[in-house]
Amino acid sequence: MIELRNVTFRYNARIKDSAPAIQSLNMVFHEGEIAAVLGKNGSGKSTLSRIISGILKPQFGEALVDGYSTSIPKEMWEARSRVGIVFQNPDDQIISNNVLDEIVFGPENLGIPRNEIESRIQEISQILQIESIMDYPIHELTFGQKQLVAIAGVLAMRPRYMIFDEPTTSLGPEQTQALLQIIQKFAREYHLGVIYITHNMDEVPFCDTVFVMENGSVIRQGAPSQIFADAMAMRQYGLDIPAVTEIYQRIKTSLTETSVMPLNEEQFAEIFANSAHITQPEATPSAAGSTSDNSDNTQKNTEAASLIIETKDAHFTYKAGTPFAQIGLAGITIRVPQGSFIACVGPTRSGKSTLLDSLNGVLKPGRNMVFYQGKDIHTPGYDLSALRKDVGVVFQSPDAQIIKDVVGKDIAFGLRQLKLSLAESRQRVQESLESVGLNYEEFRNRYTYTLSGGQKRRVTIAGALALRPKILALDEPTAGLDPQGRAGFLQMLKQLGNDRGLTIIYMTANLEDIIALADTIYLLENGKVVMSGSPKEILEHTDTIARMNIGLPAVTRISAAIKRRIPSFAENALNLHELETALLQYAGPNGRGKGLNSL
Ligand SMILES: Nc1ncnc2c1ncn2[C@@H]1O[C@H](COP(=O)(O)OP(=O)(O)OP(=O)(O)O)[C@@H](O)[C@H]1O
Ligand SMILES: [Mg+2]
Repeated sequence: MIELRNVTFRYNARIKDSAPAIQSLNMVFHEGEIAAVLGKNGSGKSTLSRIISGILKPQFGEALVDGYSTSIPKEMWEARSRVGIVFQNPDDQIISNNVLDEIVFGPENLGIPRNEIESRIQEISQILQIESIMDYPIHELTFGQKQLVAIAGVLAMRPRYMIFDEPTTSLGPEQTQALLQIIQKFAREYHLGVIYITHNMDEVPFCDTVFVMENGSVIRQGAPSQIFADAMAMRQYGLDIPAVTEIYQRIKTSLTETSVMPLNEEQFAEIFANSAHITQPEATPSAAGSTSDNSDNTQKNTEAASLIIETKDAHFTYKAGTPFAQIGLAGITIRVPQGSFIACVGPTRSGKSTLLDSLNGVLKPGRNMVFYQGKDIHTPGYDLSALRKDVGVVFQSPDAQIIKDVVGKDIAFGLRQLKLSLAESRQRVQESLESVGLNYEEFRNRYTYTLSGGQKRRVTIAGALALRPKILALDEPTAGLDPQGRAGFLQMLKQLGNDRGLTIIYMTANLEDIIALADTIYLLENGKVVMSGSPKEILEHTDTIARMNIGLPAVTRISAAIKRRIPSFAENALNLHELETALLQYAGPNGRGKGLNSL
């Protein structure tokens, strides 16, 4: 058992009245149990993980692991050796140069016999699907692969308790499933006690119990179904409820079978199929589907509007001509109309980041491949620095982007090249900080290393916005943001597009964020475009998407689960509202419902 007794922790203990990151916290975690820890950015989750693992010591109260205190020198080692931690950023964790060395390091240090280590590694690497990268040097791995290696290294030590701090932010759906599976296996078979920090509400139902944190305290605790019963409260805490729970609550009164709250799409589809009085609606299969949204129009607009940037059969090879050559782009053509929202969606290594680096001239694919406002950016004498002012970039890893030690200076850094007056520069820093939800007075003098993961992410976005670019190109920008922050950020992007005519190019491995926002989606794989079209058109091809290991939107997963039970259900909803309308058409007069069949 892990017990926190009245724990308070301040990072700035010497500054009187500084806000504690953890405040009078009482918590208990059990062996064999999976506990989710939720809370908005900066609520104290990562600090909690450092307290439990003994990296930080409480200034008041104590943390006990199986009765051993992390604060008493004689007991500290016992306490710490029982807790494994997987950090939010794998670069903070990995110390070896090579994958196998990294995974072997921990168990070897514990003196575990060689053959036992080997069998553990075999089990773990098989489930996590990392067998093929065992000989790789760490620096050649993607961020997601590093995350898996860090996880494997800690699992191999088989600690009694393990803390995961947002472990799936850079994993594809397959790897995420694999991770959840191994965590459950270890909890059941080896009685591992798990503390699972996440911003992804869809991952919560696999946990046994949930803690919700705010301002360093626990404000709610209970089983997932209890916690998700109060959607309003969850949103207030910066969180959300899973889409299945939401849609269930919306259409509940039209269902006959409403005994248990469904926590995943299969459960929901089961309840729906058993309960709805299924008659094929008389009108065309769905009113929602025929909201013909913007897809048709978009297509036309795309032709009409002038292109701001485009690539034509762009090729790029890293370390070309050496034995280490890696293909980044294998002939990509994308056309980006002025003011549009374009999404490039693909699994890791599909070429998203390479494409992004090509668009602002950091990488040089070659002549006649990248055109900005109709001009080839690689003609000799082309002004690349002007291009970089117009194309703002938000990189995948915030640490790669933050340059200065203080938040205000970091955001102002990019502005220096614009030679603005001090007042204007200050104004822009304020405006951009506030547009990402960070209070100017509170954050401008903060040291960047003291920011929480999500706060760092917000600062990098603010830095790009401050330059008021014409194009904003973003690489997985919502990783690490809490659900309300994510929703707010996406809303803001849309607003920027509408108000300022900003063109947005959004790279992601998951369709969720952009399905209701993008005008055109390009699906990328191995440096090529597999398919492109409006969101509706893309959703016609869920099989291809699933094969590519791209995350499907929650509404699509729900629709698919229903389709498996009710084949006539033909809705490709882009959002909950469309799904609700479509579902209600099936919940006919025998449901307690609204009898929408008559519509
Ligand atoms: N090294 C540090 N020095 C000073 N303050 C810090 C430090 N690390 C975190 N903080 C502050 O402590 C508070 C809690 O941060 P913490 O990293 O625990 O949040 P979190 O819940 O993990 O957030 P996120 O979801 O963004 O990762 C925040 O206000 C944060 O800015
Ligand atoms: Mg954190």
